[in-house]
Amino acid sequence: MTLWPAPAKLNLFLHITGRRADGYHDLQTVFQLVDLADDIHIQVRKDGLIERTRGAEGVPAEADLVVRAARALQTATGVGLGANLSVTKRIPMGGGLGGGSSDAATVLVALNRLWECRLCDDDLAAIGVKLGADVPVFVRGRSAWGEGRGERLTPLDLPEGYFVLVHPRVHIQTAELFQAPELTRNSPPITMTRFLQSGGRNDFEPVVRSRYPEVARALDWLGNFAPARLTGTGSCIFAPCPSLNEAQRIVTRVPAQWRAMAVRGMNISPLRTLDH
Ligand code: C5P
Repeated sequence: MTLWPAPAKLNLFLHITGRRADGYHDLQTVFQLVDLADDIHIQVRKDGLIERTRGAEGVPAEADLVVRAARALQTATGVGLGANLSVTKRIPMGGGLGGGSSDAATVLVALNRLWECRLCDDDLAAIGVKLGADVPVFVRGRSAWGEGRGERLTPLDLPEGYFVLVHPRVHIQTAELFQAPELTRNSPPITMTRFLQSGGRNDFEPVVRSRYPEVARALDWLGNFAPARLTGTGSCIFAPCPSLNEAQRIVTRVPAQWRAMAVRGMNISPLRTLDH
């Protein structure tokens, strides 16, 4: 039995630059990996079965991205081995933190090694993008500039600073937000240099603010301490902090109806620095 981490991400900005013929949207974003992670225990089985022995509450095993990722790797490689997958969830679901996608990526990377499939990262990312647009960034395991559906990635070295993360205990369905008629879909493309100089915004923020007043309240509250922003399609929000102490000080003041924690940015996923 081996343990494999699946870190969360923040979108430091997210612009929707167009609608595509395949129903998806073109976007620009920065994926910042953070040190909040799910843990996945994996035990290889010789009988070829994929079983989820523990996992996300309310998600049926057959719909769980960890099971779907394992099956996709079996199909792609023809390998006859199976696995027991046990997921300890720490990343809130429906929060815009990429937890489900990261779990899927970790299963692809881990089983590729444990089953000795010898696929390269490009192959794993190609299998992953069919499971979710955010899976490739977690396969590659680097904080990155993302374009296209979010799968065209350029690694970025960002300051490994601290953030306050607030979960307003609201679940938001990604697909609902992408379909919102009022969503801005024509943000002008920017360059990486311009983002690094002058930042950006999250185009989902006005939509989420008006559809989910609790998230608007959390944004306003956190905005009193530092510039607060939505990650992905929400519902989680975050604000950068100059130190862990400062982040923890704000966390202790977060109203009790919301969940809050201090997290640290990481340029490299812990999945990439494992010695097994
Ligand atoms: O890829 P994922 O399953 O995370 O996406 C969920 C839904 O969000 C998609 O079905 C699609 O409607 C929308 N989406 C999009 N453009 C993207 C990513 C997601 O329209 N770049």
